[in-house]
Amino acid sequence: RQYIWLDCDPGHDDAFAIMLACYQPNFELLGISTIMGNQTVDKTTVNALKVLELIGKGGSVDVVQGVQAPLVRPSMICPEIHGLTGLDCSIPLPTPKHAPITDRPAIQVMAEKIRSTFKTINNTDQSTVPTSSAVVADQQPDSAAAKPAKKITIVATGSLTNVALLFIVYPDIKSMVDVSLMGGCINIGNMSPAAEFNILVDPEAAKVVYESGVKITMVPLEVTHKALVTPAVIERIQNINPTSNFVKIVVELLKFFSESYQTLFDFPDPPLHDPLAVAYLINPNIFKCKVMRVDIETGSSLTLGRTVCDIFNFSKLEKNVNVCTDVDIEKFWDMLIDSLVLCDKA
Ligand code: BDR
Ligand code: CA
Repeated sequence: RQYIWLDCDPGHDDAFAIMLACYQPNFELLGISTIMGNQTVDKTTVNALKVLELIGKGGSVDVVQGVQAPLVRPSMICPEIHGLTGLDCSIPLPTPKHAPITDRPAIQVMAEKIRSTFKTINNTDQSTVPTSSAVVADQQPDSAAAKPAKKITIVATGSLTNVALLFIVYPDIKSMVDVSLMGGCINIGNMSPAAEFNILVDPEAAKVVYESGVKITMVPLEVTHKALVTPAVIERIQNINPTSNFVKIVVELLKFFSESYQTLFDFPDPPLHDPLAVAYLINPNIFKCKVMRVDIETGSSLTLGRTVCDIFNFSKLEKNVNVCTDVDIEKFWDMLIDSLVLCDKA
């Protein structure tokens, strides 16, 4: 069983990450926090609630609104891709019937949930947990007494501001979690020649997370750009149930996304980035990965937000990120469509 917290900025592709995460028999989705990025955090919160309502999960997954601005920089939003609502669609999504948690800040809600879950799944007092959990350390053979603790995975599909604040304010959480994130690029960016959007929105937060010692899996643009929503993919989705309102909405969401990518990037088909960070947890065997040193550029105006991937280990620094380099894309679509079938039945 896997215990997941999803931090996202829905966002068309984030919506599919939610759908995939909500219908995995082996997952327990502990909650969803929202972040600014594709739109303001007020809008991404409403969108998360709408998606849950659409797939029959309204009220059964906690939603909490995260911070509204990056750690030190002004906010950046992306209506060019996701529209004025952040989840534009020609058919309206259902109005949420359930409210988000508002009595505590998101990072407090996350910390409480992660601590209590960690305690339950390890059947232990959290004070006995070892503090370091770097990727390399995880690959060492276990020492005599140490059985590795079961961890909660934070899936991050937006900028890393909430996650960075969680690690800064509640450092004990770092020993209880892994991170699977959609973000960064090995080569070319999508918001500048050097940087991918999620990292560029808050490079300082990304730096905190990448240097935290927490085990990170990163699904970069090189991999997400294989998940192209071709007309054949749309047809498969339509065939799930051509008369259902859910399927019609999903298809319209993808059409809006597709038109944005055609206009902005001249892509014939849009890449559905975010569900890949969830798919890695469902079946890591469909991905190829390489553990390497990755650092975040925060100083240069030319390459701000670059994920500097040290593939050949020039720096000799500790390897800190499991970088996905390829995916069996047919298996990914099978996985996503299976979960859409379950969403449709709900
Ligand atoms: C990422 O940026 C956002 O617009 C998408 O939702 C995705 O998380 C791709 O660069
Ligand atoms: Ca996103």
